[in-house]
Amino acid sequence: MSLAMLFAPDPAALLWRRSFPGETVQAAAARRFVAALLDGCDLLDDVLLATDEMVVNALRHTKSGSPGGTFTVEIGRREAAIVVGVRDEGGPTEPAVVDADEYAESGRGLRTISTLATGWGWFGNEQARTVTAVFGVSWVTAA
Ligand SMILES: Nc1ncnc2c1ncn2[C@@H]1O[C@H](COP(=O)(O)OP(=O)(O)O)[C@@H](O)[C@H]1O
Ligand SMILES: [Mg+2]
Repeated sequence: MSLAMLFAPDPAALLWRRSFPGETVQAAAARRFVAALLDGCDLLDDVLLATDEMVVNALRHTKSGSPGGTFTVEIGRREAAIVVGVRDEGGPTEPAVVDADEYAESGRGLRTISTLATGWGWFGNEQARTVTAVFGVSWVTAA
């Protein structure tokens, strides 16, 4: 299962994918990758914030953040729909919105994504999971 399979039936859909070493500094590289591809998207800031939270989760909660680990960012674009996904190398937990205390410093990432995005979800297993967020966007410049 991958975003490519979800988008394959539509020949007009666009799909980009890039893998990164599983290091904290690569979160910035992942953001730049998304920003370059979605230039002109009205919700770019929201998409970047969601991407960042998913990348940090891949690094913190899965084997992607272990030595030699990697993560992969996928972007699907079909008309006014953008799907951004981060594929990790799996771990013992499953992505879930948690009840964070008002003053808690963690437990806000997926809640933020669930607020910003039209929808979010994940697929996969302990070997590899892809967390996805869907946005309905418009294009403020021709792209
Ligand atoms: N890619 C992932 N793989 C496995 N578990 C995840 C992943 N992303 C999030 N989780 C789980 O979902 C929980 C909530 O994630 P999040 O809202 O980002 O809070 P935080 O990362 O601060 O714990 C995490 O604590 C973790 O248990
Ligand atoms: Mg998090």
